[in-house]
Amino acid sequence: MENQKDPIIEALQRAVRRLLRLVVILSVLVVLIPILLLNLSTINNFFGSFGENDLRPQIVDTIAIINTETRETSMFWSPPSLNLITDDKLLDEVIYGKELIMHTAYYLGPKGTVAQQSNGLNCQNCHLNAGTKVFGNNYGSVASTYPKLRARSGKMESIEKRVNDCFERSLNGKALATNSPEMKAIVAYLKYIGRNVKKGEKAVGSGLKDITLLSRAADPEKGKIVYENQCASCHQTNGEGTKDEYGREFIYPALWGNESFNDAAGLYRISNMAKYVKYNMPFGISHENPTLSDEDSWDVAAYVVSMPRPHKNTPKDWPDKSKKPMDHPFGPYTDKFSEKQHKYGPFQELAKK
Ligand code: HEC
Ligand code: HEC
Repeated sequence: MENQKDPIIEALQRAVRRLLRLVVILSVLVVLIPILLLNLSTINNFFGSFGENDLRPQIVDTIAIINTETRETSMFWSPPSLNLITDDKLLDEVIYGKELIMHTAYYLGPKGTVAQQSNGLNCQNCHLNAGTKVFGNNYGSVASTYPKLRARSGKMESIEKRVNDCFERSLNGKALATNSPEMKAIVAYLKYIGRNVKKGEKAVGSGLKDITLLSRAADPEKGKIVYENQCASCHQTNGEGTKDEYGREFIYPALWGNESFNDAAGLYRISNMAKYVKYNMPFGISHENPTLSDEDSWDVAAYVVSMPRPHKNTPKDWPDKSKKPMDHPFGPYTDKFSEKQHKYGPFQELAKK
């Protein structure tokens, strides 16, 4: 009698056991999944702090790609996700291109692991979020508008030529060979992220956002005060920035001095500097929440461009002198205004041309 279990009770017990097992499995999942997700950033940090000495672990940025590609579901351009690339060869190339944009100095700077041919800046220092930030000097329009005729050279310029312009000026370095793996990767990245923009059209929010002109000349003296209060904490009192512990890459890039961009760079033009700063600095702000007034932006830009930096001779620039932008600070000009006014303004009359 004892061994003879009631089949109904037995079935009931089985059902209860099954239910219990299910509850255990479910609760383990409910607890584990969020912990795993939360820990992705910790894992990421772990990889980030490991092996920096010799090789940049690619995995760091691949994870970062997934984490930081938050969609801007707005009117503004945003790049297609790299996760959509199905061709492995292309994916590798595009990821390497993105790496080179984010960590240029690691590969090509004074202590570069591939070559030493540029200063310590990264492309990303000026083309924020790997060249995808709205009005952060982004690359949204590169694939759609190049090759294009540029007044500075008076020539049709390919993407490669334009990239090398920034290597020679903004990175105060040497041009990359057009067929080098690095140039191919950078171009593959620029083409990929810009592929959702129609040929000939400009991406909304690409490049820099316009800023109103002052009725007076921008004033380096006033700008110095803005600089000391709002910029020096990161970029340092003498504009030299700070480097990582290996001296390979900047944490806060140099704004002037030997290690910064040269005077033929786009950012040396005060209007570009003022626009870049107003909508991107102090680091962390965006075009939606700028903290500097237009006046402070122009003045601090004036202070930065008044400081010493490398010089580059560019005798072939602006073959048609009448096409020089209002704030190109080097004559000769086809108008009557001085180099000083072209450098600092006031620009009202100059802009009317
Ligand atoms: C010191 C700042 C700075 C750095 C560093 C820099 N650039 Fe630029 N770049 C600019 C500015 C400013 C412009 C826009 C200039 C203008 O329109 O006059 C620009 C323009 C460009 C353009 C053309 C964009 C367009 O829509 O026409 C490309 C492409 C480009 N840069 C690529 C690069 C690459 C690649 C690197 C790294 C090798 C780099 N830049 C590094 C400041 C910089
Ligand atoms: C909280 C730190 C911080 C502050 C404050 C700050 N910046 Fe920056 N700045 C950065 C970082 C970081 C970058 C590079 C961004 C990147 O690589 O993603 C940068 C890049 C720049 C660049 C382009 C790179 C270069 O070397 O020229 C300029 C110009 C610049 N800042 C100007 C300013 C000015 C002017 C101010 C003050 C109004 C300012 N910044 C305040 C952190 C800061």
